[in-house]
Amino acid sequence: MARDAGTSAFDIPSVDPALMSEVLEGLSRPQKALPPKLFYDERGSRLFELICEQPEYYIPATETALLRAHAADLAAFCGPRCVVLEPGAGTAEKTPILLGALDQPAAYMPIEISETALDICVNNLASLMPGLRVHPVCADFTRPFGLPRIENAHWRRRVVFVPGSTIGNFEPLMARRLLAEWQALAGPHGALIIGVDLRKPRAILERAYDDEAGVTAAFNLNMLEHLNRDFGANFNLDGFAHRAIFNDELSRIEMHLVSKRPQRVRIGSRSFVFAAGETLHTENSYKYTPADFAELALSAGWGRRELWIDDGDLFSLQCFEAIG
Ligand code: AVJ
Repeated sequence: MARDAGTSAFDIPSVDPALMSEVLEGLSRPQKALPPKLFYDERGSRLFELICEQPEYYIPATETALLRAHAADLAAFCGPRCVVLEPGAGTAEKTPILLGALDQPAAYMPIEISETALDICVNNLASLMPGLRVHPVCADFTRPFGLPRIENAHWRRRVVFVPGSTIGNFEPLMARRLLAEWQALAGPHGALIIGVDLRKPRAILERAYDDEAGVTAAFNLNMLEHLNRDFGANFNLDGFAHRAIFNDELSRIEMHLVSKRPQRVRIGSRSFVFAAGETLHTENSYKYTPADFAELALSAGWGRRELWIDDGDLFSLQCFEAIG
């Protein structure tokens, strides 16, 4: 059935209707919320790279050190000729550490929503590992996507690699669903190598998500700019402030954008009212104990084989195999 032109927020050309529905549905909830994948437009992807250089944001440095320290163990765990799949690869900064250590990797498949990030990832790997087959997939990994066929490659095992605590962005039920999907993706003798951020004192966490230089604040606010530019919204960026708080009960860092005053925001033909102090919830970043994560993964059919933690108890690198 035809819709009236110009009367629907869906009529902005080039906006994926499914994503637009997610936006409108999120803004219609009593606690307004938007999915963190909306951070990653071109500017957002660049801001995320900058976050990774902030001293308070301990994840990249800690994980990189763990990958380097255990590169040989990872290669032994994976075995020769494996295919590495990376959901949410971004620019894949750390992936060369793994790929470089592996015995004759058969192929690498980054799955990434941001075209900009995916381009950088592919170019990076082409220059670092010229002989490697790279098959990029530009897709939202939380939705069904197809994998390219690997022609003429003789491979032994599929390994799903999810560094950076990407899994932390998802609520436990969704995290379990994704872990189960990755098991289907990896197949019968599949493996999973995953970076999982650990529960730790509130002060360390809140600083990590509200750095001194204000990069995380800019990253959070950029979601509104993304909505303005690509979804026809009219958010006033001066009207919102960044907030990061640790929700101890749910063991997650929450990022919000706090409305500084009462205001109304338009998206297409829809409009949404914000009270002063009302928040738009933009991200959860769950923090696990090693035992809690093993239990979650087990419920999705993964048995843990390796667990490595840095000396500061900040971050973990974990290896799993499909069971059953
Ligand atoms: C990319 C989801 C792992 O949750 O730590 C960084 C994103 N948000 N600072 C995280 C993020 C704010 C990051 N992940």
